Amino acid sequence: MNSTPGADWLNLLIGLLQDAQLQLLRVLDALGLAQQMHGRPGWPWEHRLSGENLLIDLGQARSLAWTLVFVGVAVLALLLALFWRRPRFYFLALVPMLLIAAPWPEAHVVLVPATPTSFQSSPTGFTAASIAQGRALYEQNCVACHGADGKGEGPLAASLAVWPPDLSGPLLWRRADGDLLWRILHGTRDAGQGKTTMPGFGGKLDEADAWALIDYMKAQAAGQSLRALGNWPQPIGLPDMAVRCGSQPPRWLASWRGQRVRIVAGDAALTEDPRLVTVRLVSPSSKTAPAAADCAAESVAAWEALALIAGTDRLAGTQLIADRDGWLRARGEPGKAGWSDDDLLCRSERTPSATADGATLPADGLGALIARMDAEPVRFVKGGFIH
Ligand code: HEC
Repeated sequence: MNSTPGADWLNLLIGLLQDAQLQLLRVLDALGLAQQMHGRPGWPWEHRLSGENLLIDLGQARSLAWTLVFVGVAVLALLLALFWRRPRFYFLALVPMLLIAAPWPEAHVVLVPATPTSFQSSPTGFTAASIAQGRALYEQNCVACHGADGKGEGPLAASLAVWPPDLSGPLLWRRADGDLLWRILHGTRDAGQGKTTMPGFGGKLDEADAWALIDYMKAQAAGQSLRALGNWPQPIGLPDMAVRCGSQPPRWLASWRGQRVRIVAGDAALTEDPRLVTVRLVSPSSKTAPAAADCAAESVAAWEALALIAGTDRLAGTQLIADRDGWLRARGEPGKAGWSDDDLLCRSERTPSATADGATLPADGLGALIARMDAEPVRFVKGGFIH
């Protein structure tokens, strides 16, 4: 989940590949060569360069990085040969030598099957409302095979040629979002005989529905992981929701991006803390209005989205902390007094007793938690997308 130190070059490489492919798609679109797919220019090839495999196979990633350097130098040599007449022969001779000497990576590792929507990204903003919309759609269309918990044990599962995968694990994070969109709308086929393994829902659902389903499935997978493992192995964002502070007009929770946000669910006593923006999440069953001074979110969808992500039916009293980038990082369970850096549920494997620069953690629990959270930002890379 979080990148290991020293993997910065890999993030850079994956970011570069991603950008280069997106730019290529833009150029094709500008030239009128890309077909529109679900409202955006579609990727015309069957394959794309893969970020996800490079993450797994560092050796191949290194080969690819070096090959890019070799190809870069070869292009430079070609340019020099064009403009510099006298040593032209030497520059030209260098080009094939460089191309032969480059440690080309294996195509089956760096190239993965693409879909026309591989490079599309979600327009929803991961809101509580889209998660709620996704939940309703999931219950109507997907539960029979994938099961209520997404583990693939729905009543129809056993009758299928291929067992539905476990959607409550890391699968959704391994795929590019655009590929998930395509599979929901167009279904999946088995690689051998091309038989339909999951039906497509394009006739029944539109893109907005599919994006909402993806939001819901991710929120659900986060909750299932928390139940099973006690942490969030894949980073999950704080869903966006409308918040009202006193008599001011409502604003979006995401408008505080750049600051740490704490959500307090239910009527638990609440003390402001200058290190965090505190927002009370009002329980749908609560009869008391939130105190006038509080910032509060009151929608049922917001409550349900956070209960889903926290993997609990009893959200009241839970506190959740999101970092400055909007990733949910820590949970305080109901009735628990005080925080410690152990409450960090989305973390890297580094030593807990010191921050990245070696300074010891502050003695106060919340301070220690914040220091560690800030020292280990989420640098999540998935399907070639740096989040
Ligand atoms: C008829 C049973 C069935 C229904 C209904 C169904 N699925 Fe599937 N789903 C499957 C099977 C089987 C697979 C595995 C396909 C494979 O690997 O070839 C799958 C795979 C998936 C995957 C993983 C795709 C990947 O990239 O590996 C996602 C995501 C998914 N389904 C989402 C949904 C959603 C969302 C719905 C509801 C709109 C839904 N499914 C409805 C049977 C079903």
